[in-house]
Amino acid sequence: MQILGIESSCDETGVALVETTGSDMPRLLSHALYSQIEMHQAYGGVVPELASRDHIRRVLPLTRQVLAEAGGTLADIDVVAYTRGPGLAGALLVGSGVACALAASLGKPVLGVHHLEGHLLSPFLSADPPEFPFIALLVSGGHTQLMRVDGVGRYELLGETIDDAAGEAFDKSAKLMGLPYPGGPGLSRLAEQGNPTAYKLPRPLLHSGDLDFSFAGLKTAVLTQSQKIGPAAHTEGAPERADLAASTQAAIVEVLVKKSMTALKTSGMKRLVVAGGVGANRELRAQLNAACAKAKVRVHYPELHLCTDNGAMIAMAAAMRLQSGVQKAQAHYSFDVKPR
Ligand code: KG4
Ligand code: ZN
Repeated sequence: MQILGIESSCDETGVALVETTGSDMPRLLSHALYSQIEMHQAYGGVVPELASRDHIRRVLPLTRQVLAEAGGTLADIDVVAYTRGPGLAGALLVGSGVACALAASLGKPVLGVHHLEGHLLSPFLSADPPEFPFIALLVSGGHTQLMRVDGVGRYELLGETIDDAAGEAFDKSAKLMGLPYPGGPGLSRLAEQGNPTAYKLPRPLLHSGDLDFSFAGLKTAVLTQSQKIGPAAHTEGAPERADLAASTQAAIVEVLVKKSMTALKTSGMKRLVVAGGVGANRELRAQLNAACAKAKVRVHYPELHLCTDNGAMIAMAAAMRLQSGVQKAQAHYSFDVKPR
């Protein structure tokens, strides 16, 4: 069975083709991605209306590209999957509208996928996929969650952020340092030249005893610290700026690592899966690798280029849901996006 997956929840248009054979791990045949980031950079963040219009421009050429790369045609598609939410309403409507129209014209069923489940299952696209059960740390621009995962569709939320997401903390702090949107990757590159202990920043909820996160206070502390530093906090080449980036990253990473290790310890699980855009962060990976090696825990990440939004994770999640029987594709082509 061939499943076409379409992702359009935010500022990347992703399309992919995944194939399932019996109960074997679904196989990625091809995928294509168009990032709108450059277009939004001029505004310092995503402009929803522009995002929707750009998804419309990109989605069909990407679909053609994916089919051509797989050596197939529209007639080979058995199911069309799309991101149902969460995300920007207008952007989601483009992906779901195209998916439903395509499926209806082919007489094939559709399947709506939860964006976070796409991230969660994205490590199954790697050469060395995880095995159930595991603890998942989901860290994206909009979410920060710890989950117990016993199988496809069997997810228990253990803790989550009570305010900002980890990616948001990276992005908002980066903005204060004059870095372009989205600031996470830039801040992490800048941090490599800085001293992570230069500035004392809070580690919110580090000792709260539960598995919840909070990053809003950290963002305020970074603002206060940058005001104390003055213009050097956002001047290119200033050592203070690199120190502030390193100190901010250290605070975020320490909390993520500590809570992940607590979740592993209290659940007795010996496997950790990290997913979502912030999962690309090198310092987070280094520290999680070290902590997991010490605790004899296997840790899995998606391939670096599949950490941020993409169509492959949506096609994969759909394939795994169909294969495990937790969801059936349906020939109902009504608009049912769930922005929240
Ligand atoms: O998963 P994702 O592509 O989109 C959402 O579903 O939100 O995550 C995007 C987030 C942004 O906040 C971005 O700054 C962050 O992931 N990010 C990073 C890195 N790469 C992406 N944060 C820190 N270090 C990185 N290397
Ligand atoms: Zn995402």
